Amino acid sequence: MKALLISRDSQLHAEIASQGAARMPPLSIATRASLPDALDRLPPEPPALVIIDASYSEATDADLLDRLGKHYAAASFILLTGAVQQQDLLIRAMRAGVREVLQLPLVHLAFHEALDRIATSAGIVPLRDGKVLAFIACKGGSGATFISTNFGYALATLADKKVMLIDLHGQFGDAALYVSDLKPAMTLSDVCSQIARVDGPFLESCLVHVAPGFGVLAAADDPGNAGNLKPEQMDTLLRVARQHYDYIVLDVGRQIDAMSLRALDNADAIYPILQLALPDIRDARRLLDIFRSLGYPLENTRLIVNRYEKGGKLRLRLQDLQSALGAEVLHTIPNDYMAVTDSVNQGVPVLQLSRSSAVARSLAELVELLTARRVPESKGLFDRIFGRGDSDV
Ligand SMILES: Nc1ncnc2c1ncn2[C@@H]1O[C@H](COP(=O)(O)OP(=O)(O)OP(=O)(O)O)[C@@H](O)[C@H]1O
Ligand SMILES: [Mg+2]
Repeated sequence: MKALLISRDSQLHAEIASQGAARMPPLSIATRASLPDALDRLPPEPPALVIIDASYSEATDADLLDRLGKHYAAASFILLTGAVQQQDLLIRAMRAGVREVLQLPLVHLAFHEALDRIATSAGIVPLRDGKVLAFIACKGGSGATFISTNFGYALATLADKKVMLIDLHGQFGDAALYVSDLKPAMTLSDVCSQIARVDGPFLESCLVHVAPGFGVLAAADDPGNAGNLKPEQMDTLLRVARQHYDYIVLDVGRQIDAMSLRALDNADAIYPILQLALPDIRDARRLLDIFRSLGYPLENTRLIVNRYEKGGKLRLRLQDLQSALGAEVLHTIPNDYMAVTDSVNQGVPVLQLSRSSAVARSLAELVELLTARRVPESKGLFDRIFGRGDSDV
């Protein structure tokens, strides 16, 4: 959204530029020092939003504001007022069509709320600012595909999020089959080969739709095509996906290649999945060493222990694991052979098939952990879904 900021305060310029840049879509801001300056030097493209700092205003400014209002009749106006209220200017501003008046120093929340009101009345649907969460198996068969697909489903159905899962297995990708019996019409390689036309509706049409808010982009199943994928295409795919989904869940195969590496570079958080067995721990250490050498921030990498068996000794081992690997354990998923095997074999999410199973409860807890959806004064998401006060995990 094009905006014009009229202020001689360079600190305010910087403050509004940084707040504006963080919005979806971002504000692109031109600045002028004063109202006469704004009228003398009209920007080449008319702004959709004009922000006027009235803290230094003079008696003649009310007339200039009138002129500016007429000049940009289609624009929305925000007036920023200083400690001293200029009643006359305020009244004239209202008459000139200014609907938003904010006090300086700027309260960021109030500023964003005003921008939201303006965007809504202008019919601008705010784009999303999705998070990329990568699930990666430390060892083959650790459970990354089961957890990522079922977590994606849980996130969409329990937390009402719009979720897309990308299967990054270079070969033998089967994420879609874990939660659906539909055959994918398009794969990651089809999307990448048409990367120039990727937008929200196109992406949505390429997914296997598992639930209203959850779709899976199947793996590039043809190894010949998989070799043609370019890391820059992953950047574009994730950038567009972030604008249209709340969460982009990655099922990263065991084999790290140029594409999955680029996806990991883009990830907001990485969750290595491992079981509490020595070979898994050894491979987890190797994987974490790779992440360290790549400069990934440690606080974004947290472990998920799968097929975890409760017990006093194991509790200690979780702590050992944390200190041995130098990474935090975010969550444990219980060993639940029957529920998981039934779900995987039928291609039906475990939350749909065995809602009260230990593993379904644990996935709901993971949703709660990662979305921070627990409302302090009410029962948590987990409690509301399962109607219980405590967890058995
Ligand atoms: N919590 C669990 N309890 C019981 N069984 C599980 C659990 N998690 C996964 N499994 C079983 O382990 C098997 C391997 O899981 P999955 O395919 O998700 O692993 P992966 O890490 O994706 O493996 P790959 O390296 O082949 O991609 C599945 O068939 C599933 O039945
Ligand atoms: Mg897998």
